[in-house]
Amino acid sequence: MKKIKTVESFIQCFFEENIEQLKLNYPGISARILIDVFCQFFNNSARNAMTKDSMDPFFMRIKEGVPLEYIVEEKFFFNSPFYVNPNVLIPRNETEILVEKALEHISKRGWKSFADIGTGSGCIALSLLTESRSPLKGFAVDVDRSALDVCKTNHRRLKSKMPIDSSLELLLGDRIDPLQESVDFIVTNPPYIDDNEGRKGVHHQTDGHEPELSLYLPEGEYDSWFEKLFKDSHRMINDGGALLMEGHEDKLDALKDLSLTVFNNAKIIQDYTGAKRFLFAYKD
Ligand SMILES: C[S@@+](CC[C@H](N)C(=O)[O-])C[C@H]1O[C@@H](n2cnc3c(N)ncnc32)[C@H](O)[C@@H]1O
Repeated sequence: MKKIKTVESFIQCFFEENIEQLKLNYPGISARILIDVFCQFFNNSARNAMTKDSMDPFFMRIKEGVPLEYIVEEKFFFNSPFYVNPNVLIPRNETEILVEKALEHISKRGWKSFADIGTGSGCIALSLLTESRSPLKGFAVDVDRSALDVCKTNHRRLKSKMPIDSSLELLLGDRIDPLQESVDFIVTNPPYIDDNEGRKGVHHQTDGHEPELSLYLPEGEYDSWFEKLFKDSHRMINDGGALLMEGHEDKLDALKDLSLTVFNNAKIIQDYTGAKRFLFAYKD
């Protein structure tokens, strides 16, 4: 390794020496991004007392290809910073469209209550609560207790941004099962990759580091998983409400047909890349 004078030049050397491997895990990575992530990981006081040994854990994680968001424990989503750890999916930019569309529906239809199924970090539920002009009563459901703990942390951090008469209750359980009262709408970004054919198309960093539960549905259970979700959602949604869902571009046409066995109306919405990404099913 070349002789180094500063942390910045150390990271520059590390970047140049590992560039091929880094690009495999971190598309678009640059030495500048790495320096920024390093500075976020080690706060100022830690940087002042830094030794080569204390820097090792950071560089080991980078070499393992750990997503940068897990390293800095943060992802900015919609208008807020969200705490994340490897127990939750890192919120994706396209999911912001789902929040945006839900907010439009809330103001047009006067909806007052919702459930977010598969809440993970809580990025959808908490963005709705912080961004809605009118107060909302929300329920955040997840089957994984460790994901709900992350949602709880984000709820505590973002509570001051919510209208005083808004509320969020966290519920542990499978899909709609823990919901005890009906709501105006259900929003969900469920696991939507088929564990059989779908896994091959997933980036190896996602497959290797993000929770299985947040990504995959068991082979052979895809249709029945959504059949139950649609049936139970329809039962728990008030008249005039809807199910707003993110899904896999190759599966949404079939899921739309399935949703129409219980809902009266349904449509598919594209994301910014033009891919089919969302299914909205209405109980009018
Ligand atoms: C794709 S992630 C979405 C996380 C977050 N809502 C987001 O958009 O970033 C799916 C979430 O659903 C949860 N999940 C998986 N199976 C579930 C089930 N049967 N019932 C409720 N939640 C489930 C996972 O634990 C995970 O947190």
